[in-house]
Amino acid sequence: MNEYNDDIEIVVADASYEKYVDVILQTIADSAAKRGSGIATRTHEYLATKMKECKAVIALAGPEKEFAGFCYIESWGNKAYVANSGLIVVEKFRKHHLATRIKMMAFTLSRLRWPHAKIFGLTSQTAVMRINHALGYRPVAFSELTDDDAFWRGCGTPGHPCCVNFDVLQRSDRRYCVCTGMLYDPAEHEGEPLPIQLPDEVVQKIKKLAELESKTN
Ligand SMILES: CC(C)(COP(=O)(O)OP(=O)(O)OC[C@H]1O[C@@H](n2cnc3c(N)ncnc32)[C@H](O)[C@@H]1OP(=O)(O)O)[C@@H](O)C(=O)NCCC(=O)NCCS
Repeated sequence: MNEYNDDIEIVVADASYEKYVDVILQTIADSAAKRGSGIATRTHEYLATKMKECKAVIALAGPEKEFAGFCYIESWGNKAYVANSGLIVVEKFRKHHLATRIKMMAFTLSRLRWPHAKIFGLTSQTAVMRINHALGYRPVAFSELTDDDAFWRGCGTPGHPCCVNFDVLQRSDRRYCVCTGMLYDPAEHEGEPLPIQLPDEVVQKIKKLAELESKTN
């Protein structure tokens, strides 16, 4: 991942990165307003918790460690499904494969922590489709995605539509919408290597968390 040589570091966030949460939320909100799209409601607390749980990836640029990009991980349907959500790259850092690098790390993290989970996403962005496709996702009908209501509430509810297209999703009874559903099924990729290697200490930490989680479930 260092082949880019652009002095941007991409790391699995922990509690010490909470100071970036407000700028992340602002960047996501500004970008959604500019695109005229809706946005799933996320609070400071929600993203801070993702960091504390090692379920977020952050990119920081230069010696000043300026915020450059972000993505977090959510699990659904009792961890049978995992989504890499909230992907954002600050405008001036776009088109340098930063989103690709962030997603590669979030994907690797997801594969290590929930090796049997299907990884999926909803997107209307060409860039995200390209990245997902390269990681092994394929486009699927919404019926192949999680049926966990909590996930779909991210698009909105009748009383509180989050996405501008929520009415389409509602009219189709969740069968289709403007976004494309994409899914990575680990059963179709047995024995394939992970896209990147995470630092040893991160791998150990993730394995411990996975072990703990499997004991408490
Ligand atoms: C979507 C977004 C994350 C992409 O970030 P990025 O760092 O510019 O993306 P990358 O440079 O990694 O691009 C990945 C691929 O998509 C292509 N791409 C990038 N931007 C594109 C665009 N606007 N239109 C078409 N293709 C695009 C790149 O050329 C690259 O293709 P390649 O691997 O074949 O060279 C960024 O534009 C963004 O933050 N947008 C606003 C938030 C958003 O839409 N998030 C996604 C929600 S699902």
